[in-house]
Amino acid sequence: METRPLGKSGIAVPVVGMGTWRTFDVRGAVAEAGRRDLVSAALAGAMRLFDSSPMYGEAERVLGLGLTGRRDTAFVATKVWTHDPAEGHAQIAAALRFFGGRVDLYQVHNLVAWREQLPLLEAARAAGQVGLIGATHYDHAAFPELATVMQSGRVDAIQVPYNAADTAVTRTILPLAAELGLGVIAMRPLGSGELTAHPPPAAKLAFLRPFGMETWGQALLKWVLSDPRVTAVIPATARPDHVAENAAAGRPPWFDDATRARVAALTGYR
Ligand SMILES: NC(=O)c1ccc[n+]([C@@H]2O[C@H](COP(=O)([O-])OP(=O)(O)OC[C@H]3O[C@@H](n4cnc5c(N)ncnc54)[C@H](OP(=O)(O)O)[C@@H]3O)[C@@H](O)[C@H]2O)c1
Repeated sequence: METRPLGKSGIAVPVVGMGTWRTFDVRGAVAEAGRRDLVSAALAGAMRLFDSSPMYGEAERVLGLGLTGRRDTAFVATKVWTHDPAEGHAQIAAALRFFGGRVDLYQVHNLVAWREQLPLLEAARAAGQVGLIGATHYDHAAFPELATVMQSGRVDAIQVPYNAADTAVTRTILPLAAELGLGVIAMRPLGSGELTAHPPPAAKLAFLRPFGMETWGQALLKWVLSDPRVTAVIPATARPDHVAENAAAGRPPWFDDATRARVAALTGYR
């Protein structure tokens, strides 16, 4: 697994991590043990970057359980997501309980009340409870506001949607991130499952073999990672076999522009 520095922080993270939206929002011993198995599969594949949020129901708690006894092997990114500073304090306190007293990257989710929440994250960083600070948004319409936050000098990294069928981020956000030296985490690298739902037939993917790619999901992840402005992708999955498959996409050689164009052209396959 290749690692890349998360912006100017220089902290090396694996290029393929794991998201927890929907997949880790579970309750009960059996389901929670299954998520611990997913964490084991991720760590076995060197995917030690995990992304969560209080917006994802039980996900932070279940991820914390999955990391019990091995928290130090992981790089945990989570988020604060509320308009209320008091609730922000409560969310941060809960995350610190789930993640052994430290969050490696703490992001403002969807830029919600970022002017109120950034000072809380900065105080937690000063107290040694938070490593880096970031901001996220899924909506293209919010990119101008995201750019304002990026230019404030107060965030180390951003999390934005980027995949072979959604390239809006290439217009202003990725150039700005590169100029400012910010880390970039790509959410929805598989289009929240829409891009993997209709894989092209294997015969159409033969041109990917020289890149070590065996599946359509891997091709989509490698498509994102072949943009050097991206630090990491965080695909979510509930399947250990998909975890291993996704981890294998995090190795060079990366796609050239022509190969990226061929992969993007296949995203409309039906
Ligand atoms: N900040 C925000 O606003 C925001 C918004 C959205 C997402 N996110 C973050 O980004 C993460 C990723 O985004 P996402 O969960 O929306 O979508 P995604 O990772 O693009 O897609 C997830 C879907 O892809 C499938 N999948 C995963 N690996 C696969 C493979 N190798 N082959 C075929 N299918 C595969 C999964 O199904 P299986 O379970 O069957 O594998 C799941 O349905 C989230 O979990 C979350 O952490 C943040």
